[in-house]
Amino acid sequence: MAEKLNKNQIVEIDITGMSHQGFGVGKVDDFVVFTEGALPGERIKARLVSIKKDYAYGIISEYIEKSPDRRDPFCPVYDLCGGCSLQHMSYESQLKNKTVRVDDCLKRIGGFTDIPVLPCIGMQEPYEYRNKVQLAVGSTGLGEGNKQRGLSAGFYARRTHQVVYAQQCRIQPGIADQIKDTVLIYMKSNKISAYDETKNKGLVRHIMVRKSVNTDDVMVVIVATENNRVFMKGLTDILLASFQDIKTVVLNLNTKATNVIMGNECVYYYGDGSIQEKLGDLTFRITPLSFFQVNTLQMKVLYDKVKEYAGLTGEEIVWDLYCGAGTIGLYLADQAKKVIGIESVPQAVENAKENTIQNNIRNTEFITGKAEDEINQLIQSTNNIHPDLIIVDPPRKGCHERLLSSLCELRTQKLIYVSCNPSTLARDLKYLNEHGKYEIKKVQPVDMFPWTEHVETVVLLKRLEK
Ligand SMILES: C[S@@+](CC[C@H](N)C(=O)[O-])C[C@H]1O[C@@H](n2cnc3c(N)ncnc32)[C@H](O)[C@@H]1O
Repeated sequence: MAEKLNKNQIVEIDITGMSHQGFGVGKVDDFVVFTEGALPGERIKARLVSIKKDYAYGIISEYIEKSPDRRDPFCPVYDLCGGCSLQHMSYESQLKNKTVRVDDCLKRIGGFTDIPVLPCIGMQEPYEYRNKVQLAVGSTGLGEGNKQRGLSAGFYARRTHQVVYAQQCRIQPGIADQIKDTVLIYMKSNKISAYDETKNKGLVRHIMVRKSVNTDDVMVVIVATENNRVFMKGLTDILLASFQDIKTVVLNLNTKATNVIMGNECVYYYGDGSIQEKLGDLTFRITPLSFFQVNTLQMKVLYDKVKEYAGLTGEEIVWDLYCGAGTIGLYLADQAKKVIGIESVPQAVENAKENTIQNNIRNTEFITGKAEDEINQLIQSTNNIHPDLIIVDPPRKGCHERLLSSLCELRTQKLIYVSCNPSTLARDLKYLNEHGKYEIKKVQPVDMFPWTEHVETVVLLKRLEK
């Protein structure tokens, strides 16, 4: 029981599940313990490092029985780096585990006991999948072999803002590492400082690299506290001489003492600040601040699943809520009569409109605002011409309850819910089921982020009554 557990106590635990953070979950009597790095099926000894009212955190002190799903991490800085959380688990078992987690949320939070969850769709080659990499720059960093190094760039170490340097990060394209090293060498030789967030001093904060999968275009963005032209011009020349796929080099100004990576102002040192990416028959223009799914190959898998579940004939009116840069709606537009998107971030709506024009699409409309507010205006302005399909793709916190309530009143026959958080998905599905008589027809998890705990899910819902 809780009272009996003490900090630093060693306990023996059978790991029976995995949390949303990728921690092994087990119990000591009735008390839940989360242990980083432990896998379901393992029996371990854990040292308790933090004890809360209802649960505790432990770290592994000894394996009594290891899982056959355990594997050696491929990255030498895996123990430090906050970029991945499941490299100690085989890819096949990660996919199984993601399916189980979605199923578990539907049962536990949603109360859906008999909905079959389809096996999570993984990648053939789960490496180099990130099309966007944002590396923090630090004057020191933890390096390979856990040694302190000089000027560094990389992901932050877990639960800290200490930069971790990796020579090769296998979840991002190889060119991102080469560009990172080129920038660091140039900074060192020109005595350019890294930004220090504790003192709010220094020049370079982040290096961002975006690489299109289907065109090979590369964008480099240096996020800095001021526009040092001499540095940026020299660096741009070196980058262009070294990497022929670079289509644009941008300085992003971020002068604020904030955790937000990008500022709003960009200065273009080469190119027009954009690259092109293809998805199916469409071409998207991506700028430094554009929202675009991070894994292009799995984005197509996800959107094709949405397309399949939508089953459009060309006659339907589709609403795409939380639409980002409009990519889902644009992907479906040639099979629909009309697509209307709602998105709260104005720049994303600008991107959606640009992408509409670039792809010669004429049957879409995008609205800036909160989905929970705009939906009612939309219902009024369309004179009760109701949509045939509504797609929602909210952020991790899920849909606003007012939006769910409007969806239930609207009685659209078909809904597709795209989710990046199985817990809020299950909560919202329960609401739609109880208040709107929506029945779950299909649940398809898709792995957008191999080697991490994240899982995306597409759910098809239909109304029981007309
Ligand atoms: C998970 S993203 C989905 C983007 C897009 N569907 C895609 O596939 O790229 C969620 C989007 O919802 C937007 N958002 C967050 N809260 C919102 C709200 N209350 N109303 C409308 N959009 C919102 C975010 O800005 C973000 O673009």
